[in-house]
Amino acid sequence: MSINPKQLTDICSVHGLTEKQTQFVVAYMGNGRNASAAYRTAYNVRRNGSANVVTVESSKLLRHPKIRAVLDEFGIPLAAARASAPGGNRAQERQEPNAAAKQSDAAPSEPTFKKLNPFTGKEDGIAAGKILYNQIGCQGCHGGGGGGGMAASLIDDSWKFGSDDETLYKLIKGQIPEQTMPVVYSSLPDEQVWQILAYIRTLYKGDPSKINW
Ligand code: HEC
Repeated sequence: MSINPKQLTDICSVHGLTEKQTQFVVAYMGNGRNASAAYRTAYNVRRNGSANVVTVESSKLLRHPKIRAVLDEFGIPLAAARASAPGGNRAQERQEPNAAAKQSDAAPSEPTFKKLNPFTGKEDGIAAGKILYNQIGCQGCHGGGGGGGMAASLIDDSWKFGSDDETLYKLIKGQIPEQTMPVVYSSLPDEQVWQILAYIRTLYKGDPSKINW
């Protein structure tokens, strides 16, 4: 989807965003939806600024009701909040402490994996992901149907680093230090990474009880 920055700025002003918030949204939409990078651009944070602060602040911005309103107009889901109860940001914030407490009651020792992929199970995203998978070389190593070949099978339930969204996202982006999968996709826009992963999820033939995405 290509969005004209002027149009985007206008929509931001309709929703009453500040200048910096607008810069954040424009950068975010233009950079493949990298919120941290957009935050650094809009708020002039240096590369060596604290990564934690950037992550926290940029995710706060993504949840900001006015910024949400703009992103909603473009149909951009808030990936991290996808699994939470409907009813908008405020309801969600109020429920958070409770929900967290319940979760730890129910499964004290089970690690929790965040479902981050906005395209999981979504037909359009999966179709786009399939095209990308075959176009940008994944199939060369992992096989046309993901069954492996030169590299690991993507359809079984054995995973070198883990099967959750965050791990596979990092692997494709080349962010796992021990990985042998080549680091050639680090500039692939997030949206496309998630679409490819949504496609890969449809190929899975392993134990259904191990699904954590
Ligand atoms: C040059 C070969 C090569 C290409 C191209 C390649 N991969 Fe990989 N991939 C690997 C190797 C090798 C591994 C095994 C994990 C490791 O050691 O990094 C792997 C692992 C994976 C895994 C995890 C599999 C597991 O069992 O843990 C996924 C998912 C994956 N690749 C997806 C992709 C996607 C999506 C693309 C295209 C964007 C892609 N790969 C392109 C070589 C490749």
